[in-house]
Amino acid sequence: MKDYIKDEQNYIMHTYGRLPVVFEKGDGFKLWDIYGKEYLDFASGLGVINIGHIRPEVAKAVCEQAKKLIHVSNLFYTIPQIELAKKLTEISFADKCFFANSGAEANEGAIKLARKYAKIKFKDENRYEIISAYKGFHGRTLAALAATAQPDKQKYFKPMPAGFKYVEYNNSEELKKVVDEKTCAIIIEPIQGEGGVNIGSDDYFKELRSLCDEKKILLIFDEVQTGFGRTGKMFAYEHFGIVPDIMTIAKGLANGMPIGVILAKEEVAEVFEPGDHATTFGGGPLVCSAALATLGVLEKDELVKNSQEVGEYFKNKLFEFQKKFDLIKEVRGKGLMIGVELNKKAAKDIVLKCLDKGLVINNVASDILRFIPPLCISKNEVDTALKILETIFEEEQ
Ligand SMILES: Cc1ncc(COP(=O)(O)O)c(C=O)c1O
Repeated sequence: MKDYIKDEQNYIMHTYGRLPVVFEKGDGFKLWDIYGKEYLDFASGLGVINIGHIRPEVAKAVCEQAKKLIHVSNLFYTIPQIELAKKLTEISFADKCFFANSGAEANEGAIKLARKYAKIKFKDENRYEIISAYKGFHGRTLAALAATAQPDKQKYFKPMPAGFKYVEYNNSEELKKVVDEKTCAIIIEPIQGEGGVNIGSDDYFKELRSLCDEKKILLIFDEVQTGFGRTGKMFAYEHFGIVPDIMTIAKGLANGMPIGVILAKEEVAEVFEPGDHATTFGGGPLVCSAALATLGVLEKDELVKNSQEVGEYFKNKLFEFQKKFDLIKEVRGKGLMIGVELNKKAAKDIVLKCLDKGLVINNVASDILRFIPPLCISKNEVDTALKILETIFEEEQ
């Protein structure tokens, strides 16, 4: 393993604080490192492997497509892209899709779409500002980073693109004060993932929707992390009884193949015309075949329901832990997206101890653990994870 780590340091830019393990193989909710040690995966490649590692249905779809056609670009029509677009509009509020390659890229495109919408519909050159929430995360490219209201992430990359304003998450009063005639959109995660698994209230989202309707502002939901059953619903907006105008999705859609999508209502989507936005790779036949197969499994195995049920079981067990361990300050989440806030900055230490005991989790802050396992886990895997966590929490008390 030492050689791999040395080589990584020699040849790869040092942007990641990687954990000391080299993974070689996966199957369902299990991973194996190069020494054959087995791990239970409760991180699913940062919320990507929703249906489990190496699903035969996805492998088959990718292999068959790879033997037929991998890439021709968006100069032409390809069947998997059209089929996937149809499927995504059937399962969501949206009428139209634009295919990109990552979450950040989907958000970049959504920001462009919102700005063009304002210019076309209101004929107002000054209506370009986007409001986002502190602790939100929308990606690392420049406009997505400008929407990511986290000063430490923006620090070395200033000046940020102009036209972004920030408000406290889950505070509609502040939002009402900040919205003005320059505002064209609000971009928000229905549940903040990287920011600590923070959930806005039902009232907040209802007020957000009303405010956007009243002021004719577009509501963009960043469901890059929360989409596709992660929170116990197909999309997290369904929890709050409202519908956004634009939604961005990525992570779980193709179970590990890189994809990002902008979804929008017709009235919004129609402002994009040829030449406004493009990507060479986006929506290629290979990744779209993987996404169609992934969605097939998600539906066939009823994994959205499983996420809700197993997630509830897991959360309740963690609430019991909270009563037992002073270390735990708060447990929050929906479905299989759960955060545990600690009373001390012990999260990294706990992540490393879990890894040593064969459980892969991650921390989103020095005091917040995040659990985002594949949606195909059962209560048995939760029990195994809980046993490991219990011993570690006892040590850390
Ligand atoms: C809510 C949200 N938006 C956007 C992104 C960026 O996605 P990507 O890393 O695919 O660019 C992430 C990544 O964690 C995310 O959680």
